[in-house]
Amino acid sequence: MDDTTFLLNGEPRSLAAADPNQSLLRWLRGLRLTGTKEGCGDGDCGACTVALLEPAGPHWRAVNACLLPLGALPGREVWTVEGLASGDRLHPVQQALVDTAGSQCGYCTPGFVMSLAVAHAEGELAGHGCDAAIEGNLCRCTGYRPIRKAAQRLAAEPVAEDGLARRRQGPAAPLAGACLGAFESPTTLADALAAKVARPQAQWIAGATDVGVALSRGERPAGGSIALDRIAELQVLEIGADAVRIGAGVPLARLERELAGVFPALDDLLPWFAARQVKNRATLGGNLGSASPIGDLLPWLLALDAVIELAGPGGRRVQPADGYILGYRKTARQDEELVVAVRVPRHGGIEAGYKVAKRQADDISIVAAVYRIELDDARRVRLARLAYGGVAATPVRARAVEDLLLGREWNADTIETAAQSLEAAFTPLDDHRASAAYRRALCGELFRRFAEERVQRAGGAFLSAKDAKNAKEAS
Ligand SMILES: Cc1cc2nc3c(=O)[nH]c(=O)nc-3n(C[C@H](O)[C@H](O)[C@H](O)COP(=O)(O)OP(=O)(O)OC[C@H]3O[C@@H](n4cnc5c(N)ncnc54)[C@H](O)[C@@H]3O)c2cc1C
Ligand code: FES
Ligand code: FES
Repeated sequence: MDDTTFLLNGEPRSLAAADPNQSLLRWLRGLRLTGTKEGCGDGDCGACTVALLEPAGPHWRAVNACLLPLGALPGREVWTVEGLASGDRLHPVQQALVDTAGSQCGYCTPGFVMSLAVAHAEGELAGHGCDAAIEGNLCRCTGYRPIRKAAQRLAAEPVAEDGLARRRQGPAAPLAGACLGAFESPTTLADALAAKVARPQAQWIAGATDVGVALSRGERPAGGSIALDRIAELQVLEIGADAVRIGAGVPLARLERELAGVFPALDDLLPWFAARQVKNRATLGGNLGSASPIGDLLPWLLALDAVIELAGPGGRRVQPADGYILGYRKTARQDEELVVAVRVPRHGGIEAGYKVAKRQADDISIVAAVYRIELDDARRVRLARLAYGGVAATPVRARAVEDLLLGREWNADTIETAAQSLEAAFTPLDDHRASAAYRRALCGELFRRFAEERVQRAGGAFLSAKDAKNAKEAS
């Protein structure tokens, strides 16, 4: 393959004449490969799901073609629904959906087929895997019961001997660097930083789950893009006894798999962060780069006293997560710097993460909260971290309430005093997602839930927080 070619269903395709900012979805449909559908164009519906080969492994990952810019593709391998059937014989996933009547209008069906084909090829359909595989696919007319039935049937079948399976058994070759127009994909940090010095207006791009939404709507980066997804140094995940170092480019789905059980609050949050297709590409570096007030991972980093490693043309430096956000989408990172990694200490103590959104899965937070407390032998609060997203222009810690808790005995009165103080701690906005009053109420209610669900279970409380609240109201 030359350096502007990628493999589509096993066949080389040249992108030499392509617009690197165009989405894979639009490009496929322009070629009349219309099996891949456009529903939302925003990563929300899964109609455009395709399989992308992750070279490490190699493993197939389901991703949204509407968010994937062509510039990211040279040297990669993609499989679409057109590549599954063998002549007139349906692929087992397609056959299962036919047999269970899992399709009516059929618009969503190719997306479901691709999500299930990838999960089947990767052996991920066991247990909760059936639902997890299709959490990012919406169907408006069939209803999910027959689709789940098809998934469950597949889970019991041997992996199909299809193109996906054959390629998965092939070599794991790291991606070479590539350049498609003004979309550059270096393989080292030094090259990425040099590219940014040469083109200061260029934007960093990692998984493209934020940037891809803008590109999909026709916005074009003035100075081009420097992709970070081929840089090995950004892909490291070091799990130490005292801390975990997370490379900025590690996809969140990998964090969900490889850090399971390490950080309870992260285990709480990641299942509700977007859906599988987005998490297969989205990164922690991108979450810090966007610095959204409703980004879900900054509250976690604040509560765990994480430290962000930055690199720029002048060298490397570290920045505590507390102090990284300076204002609305404004951070302590200079434009020419990039996030290399985040170090998250393993503290012990009691922690939990909560996310409240309009619908349970695949939705942006109304409020996200991450709590961490440590109690001493006398059950006095030795340390408290109470971090929120969605209640201010930036993710924030409720410092006054943290201070109020310090040294206090962990009892019903303390819990309720803190919860009520949390309800008064912020002046959130009213918007289309929720009223300010609802957000304020959540700040206290989530803390009561934490006290009841986690602290009590860990032996730190003598009365349920709800009972405590009722007792206080009754007195
Ligand atoms: C359907 C959908 C659902 C979503 N749900 C959630 C959700 O539940 N919670 C949530 O928090 N977010 C959500 N997001 C937003 C997005 O997925 C996250 O912000 C994600 O972490 C972005 O990572 P990325 O690698 O895709 O970033 P990209 O889109 O590649 O980049 C985002 C920004 O970060 C910059 N950037 C990327 N990497 C670096 C780096 N290493 N150093 C410096 N700057 C960098 C880019 O220049 C850009 O400004 C959702 C998005 C979609 C489309
Ligand atoms: S078109 Fe809806 S997720 Fe891509
Ligand atoms: S079959 Fe019509 S949207 Fe799913």
